[in-house]
Amino acid sequence: MRFTTRIHLATSDAIQEAAQLLKAGEVVGLPTETVYGLAANAHNANAVKEIFNVKQRPAFDPLIVHVSDQHLQSPAGPLASLSLEGTIAPQVATWKNRAKIELLIARYWPGPLTLVLPKGLSIPDVVTSGQPTVGIRCPAHLAFQQVLAATKFPLAAPSANLFGRISPTRAQHVYRELGGQIQLIIDGGPCTVGVESTIIQIIDEPFTVKILRPGKIAADEIERLIGTPVTPTPGIAQTQIQKQGAVAPGMLDEHYAPTKPLILTLRPFSQMVPSMVAVPNELKGKKVGILSTGPLLDSFWNTFNPVKVIELSHQAVPQEIAQRLFLSLRELDEDQTVDWILADVPEPTSGLGLAIRDRLNRASRNKPLD
Ligand code: TXA
Ligand code: MG
Repeated sequence: MRFTTRIHLATSDAIQEAAQLLKAGEVVGLPTETVYGLAANAHNANAVKEIFNVKQRPAFDPLIVHVSDQHLQSPAGPLASLSLEGTIAPQVATWKNRAKIELLIARYWPGPLTLVLPKGLSIPDVVTSGQPTVGIRCPAHLAFQQVLAATKFPLAAPSANLFGRISPTRAQHVYRELGGQIQLIIDGGPCTVGVESTIIQIIDEPFTVKILRPGKIAADEIERLIGTPVTPTPGIAQTQIQKQGAVAPGMLDEHYAPTKPLILTLRPFSQMVPSMVAVPNELKGKKVGILSTGPLLDSFWNTFNPVKVIELSHQAVPQEIAQRLFLSLRELDEDQTVDWILADVPEPTSGLGLAIRDRLNRASRNKPLD
């Protein structure tokens, strides 16, 4: 225990205190609309190293840099403003296809979209794990924006969980995992989106947009907006290569894992019969907790006799499922009466549907969606 960790509501005093700590090179837990982040001054290499220490995150996994919405008001445009700050490389502001990036920014910022672009000189290598690119995002949560306005520097922030564990969507989750290691967590309430931002990598010529991580903002929405085909998320096999450091890091496939075995189905429970679920031998007869994207059918209750059931959304609405997904996974993981977790997946009808499937697949032991 290095510190007594305090959780504060996002009052103006708490915002000022967070800004002071960040200016002094400390790390602070902050709310965003997606998940809680563990923030530090993105221009200060030592402060950023502390994020990696606290999270026990390997140095090869780069961080997202969070930028102020004041860039959106800049008369020269957000790309020129971000390059002036040294966050992105100056050439981006003169790219042939810059108008398409500015369309994305105008439509989705502040919000859950991260752009991977060539990095600027003010971002130390530790932030990007030595990559020539930087992931940038303008978060929509008011408290986060107030802290950015008070610090006047961008904030590097990964999700505020220990490496490889479930992302936090409540201030209490940050406290339980990182309490004693940081001084302050700003409590901005439950995260409204509930899963991390969509990450896209952008290359100018030939203009290429590639989804590195699915999130609320869907590939087809982006395609329609900018009129360019979008390359979908690489599969799990590809992220395994990334883990070995052979390819640029994007995502690691053991992210979001509960400590208990999580077995995932290929389809929603509503489109299955219980005999279609393959329960590994070592889990047979053990007490199961069920995480269901919609209402759980009687046949599943009767067959599995679960000690606990969490129904995420009565109508299987992706927004509702996403909001409670990580909270509910934590609840089942922490419940002493539950030995293992059985979960189903929503249909991949929207950006969020895909994002939920992606997070559950990464967290699961059987990874059926490969
Ligand atoms: O919604 C979010 O994006 C949240 C909130 C806190 O903003 N942040 C978040 O950060 O999810 P983190 O560190 O948990 O996940 C960031 C992912 C990592 O998997 C990392 O590999 C990828 O973004 N990433 C960051 N910079 C990158 C880059 N330059 N190239 C490729 N991938 C990058
Ligand atoms: Mg994370």
